[in-house]
Amino acid sequence: MPTFTEIVTLKTLLITGINSGIGLHISLYLSQKGYMVLGTVRRNSQVPDKLLRNPNIQIFELCLDNDEQLERGFQHIRKMIPPDGLYAFINNAGMVVAGPATEISLPDYRYQFQINLFAGIHLIQLCLPYLIRYGTGARVIHISSVSGLFGSPFLGAYVASKYAGEGFFDSLRRELSLIGLRTVKIVAGSINTPIWEKQLGLLDKFETGNYWPYLQVANSSILKMKSESMPLETINKPILKALEHTCPRPSYLVYKKKWMFLLLTKILPVTFVDRMIRNRLKMKTPEIRT
Ligand SMILES: NC(=O)c1ccc[n+]([C@@H]2O[C@H](COP(=O)([O-])OP(=O)(O)OC[C@H]3O[C@@H](n4cnc5c(N)ncnc54)[C@H](OP(=O)(O)O)[C@@H]3O)[C@@H](O)[C@H]2O)c1
Repeated sequence: MPTFTEIVTLKTLLITGINSGIGLHISLYLSQKGYMVLGTVRRNSQVPDKLLRNPNIQIFELCLDNDEQLERGFQHIRKMIPPDGLYAFINNAGMVVAGPATEISLPDYRYQFQINLFAGIHLIQLCLPYLIRYGTGARVIHISSVSGLFGSPFLGAYVASKYAGEGFFDSLRRELSLIGLRTVKIVAGSINTPIWEKQLGLLDKFETGNYWPYLQVANSSILKMKSESMPLETINKPILKALEHTCPRPSYLVYKKKWMFLLLTKILPVTFVDRMIRNRLKMKTPEIRT
């Protein structure tokens, strides 16, 4: 464990969800780049060895499921924030509730928003005094998604939470800039992490619904998407720019073919894109199962 003096001399970051995927990768990467990482995990029992062995990473149990658990977890974190404050809060933890928009339960929608939006907002409010204490240049970084800019069938809940995040963080950026703090979004396409395979088998609960013919192939689609996704290292450059640039861009797009994404979201007519997606799902004419 690092000494208090060691923590004081490095810039300190708080990153959520560091036991897996992007959070795990950037914690290790940024600790090598000379940052002190305070990282959160849902359960202490899930911490990979390479995090435990790293002297520049401190791990805290923080479940994001509700306000009480979150505030209780933050009590331990605040004690380890050095006297000169927190340089950055990286809002990374997130999850996917997949399924047909009309068949996902309302409690599942609420849970999706709790983890992907409200928990992040709550943590920003808790971190704010420490970011202000650090002073000008301290920043909030949100790991956003292209799903915050482009709707996809069977991802309605996730997409809604990420669109809401886009709006919230754009507003936050304009607000925090008034007090000298920066806000940056990393808008990522599909990256090779466990987030999608955590969905394997979960769509079976929609077997009796309207869309089962499409969802039956969900497991193979998830595995295909994973095999085509970008390596974790793709995020290294944008995260470093977001952290180190004195005037970072409002957002960094991390996508294999950026031109394709711009074409789909900004240039092609929406009805054309709708038809493309429908054809891709092999559904030439809309059908309703009775
Ligand atoms: N991978 C992609 O293709 C992609 C693309 C764009 C944006 N993103 C965004 O990137 C972020 C990280 O995703 P990832 O791909 O790295 O996924 P991941 O490997 O599944 O990691 C997600 C992290 O969030 C944590 N988390 C989820 N629910 C939690 C809860 N209730 N309480 C505490 N921690 C919780 C997870 O903990 P557990 O392991 O305990 O669940 C894990 O540490 C997410 O916000 C995601 O939306 C991902």
